[in-house]
Parts: sequence; C-alpha cells; structure tokens
Amino acid sequence: MSKPPKPRPALAVHIRRATIDDLADLVELENSTFVIERMSARQLRRHLESLSAEILVATRQRHVVGAVVVFFRRASDIARLYSIAVAASERGNGLGEALLARAAHAARRRGSRRLRLEVRSDNVTAQRLYERLGYHPSGSHADYYEDGEDALRYEKSLA
Ligand SMILES: CC(C)(COP(=O)(O)OP(=O)(O)OC[C@H]1O[C@@H](n2cnc3c(N)ncnc32)[C@H](O)[C@@H]1OP(=O)(O)O)[C@@H](O)C(=O)NCCC(=O)NCCS
Repeated sequence: MSKPPKPRPALAVHIRRATIDDLADLVELENSTFVIERMSARQLRRHLESLSAEILVATRQRHVVGAVVVFFRRASDIARLYSIAVAASERGNGLGEALLARAAHAARRRGSRRLRLEVRSDNVTAQRLYERLGYHPSGSHADYYEDGEDALRYEKSLA
C-alpha cells in the first residue's frame, strides 16, 4: 500500500534568492545546523556576492528557516549543491524538498544539465530525501570530512 501524502506546511513559507540582508539569519542557521565545516559569516558573504553561487532561503514571517547553497562553474554544466539546511523545528514538513526543487530550477535556468552533491555517509535522512527526489549515488570519497567521515556523491539529471 502506498504511503499517504505528507501534509505540506500550511503557512506562509516563502522561498526566494537570499540577499546580503539575510546574512545574520544565514549565519545563525548555519551555526545551529552544523557542528563541523560550518560556513563562516565571511564565506557566506562572499557567496552572497558571487556570481557563481546562488543561495536560496525559505522564510516564515521574514525569518530564515531554511537555505540551500548552489555553486556554478563557468566551464561546466554540472552545478554543485553545496549545502542545505532547515531549522530543526521546521523539519519533516517538506521544506527540504521544496528548497531542493527550487535549487534544481535555478540550476536549470542557468543552463546546468546536472546537479551534484556530497553527503556524509552517516546522514541517512538527507540520503533518503535525495533518493526520493531522483538523485542517484555516483561515487564516494573516503575520509572526506574534517572528522574523517566518508562522503557519498549523488547526481541528478536536470534534462
Ligand atoms: C536534510 C534536511 C535539509 C531535510 O529538510 P526537511 O525540511 O526535514 O525535509 P523534508 O521534510 O522535505 O523531508 C525530510 C525527511 O525526513 C523525515 N522527517 C520527518 N520528521 C522529521 C523531523 N522531525 N526531522 C527530520 N526529518 C524528519 C521526512 O518524513 C522526510 O523523510 P522521507 O524523505 O523519507 O520522506 C534537514 O533534515 C536538515 O537541515 N538537516 C541538517 C543539515 C543536513 O543534514 N543537510 C544535508 C547535508 S548538507
């Protein structure tokens, strides 16, 4: 029997491109989500100002409750989904899925043909989400993260 559809968040969550005014909220989300390999305020500011990065934020009542960071390279048609985070109190409501869909849309609009990402091999929640959204495992990197954890690589065709 198929699973019943998950209830979508009933409220006004809005997804848009981040601006420099979101920097403080982005830093807070980053620090409350990741223990290692956090992006610093300086790195986030650089990505916000860069033409080769796109940060999308999900906001509720103007407060950032989720974000996704995508990198582009001029000579490549593979975009890199560098990071996704949803505030702990907002998880399980489809926001991660919505952010990933918007990231894929942004990449397609910029001419990318594939989206690629790395995920910790112990992050089963994120892996399940990626697989549900059509990302396929495409390799691994041993000892990839600061704490020695391996990374799994996933890719999705945007065709
Ligand atoms: C991975 C992450 C972005 C997903 O965001 P989300 O808004 O919970 O995503 P969704 O609601 O679309 O789907 C989450 C999945 O977790 C399940 N889930 C349900 N309740 C949950 C909860 N309270 N907390 C986490 N996950 C929950 C959902 O049912 C769904 O499972 P499924 O894919 O098997 O259907 C979020 O968990 C997160 O920010 N994690 C920490 C950062 C991280 O690991 N980022 C990825 C690597 S950079």
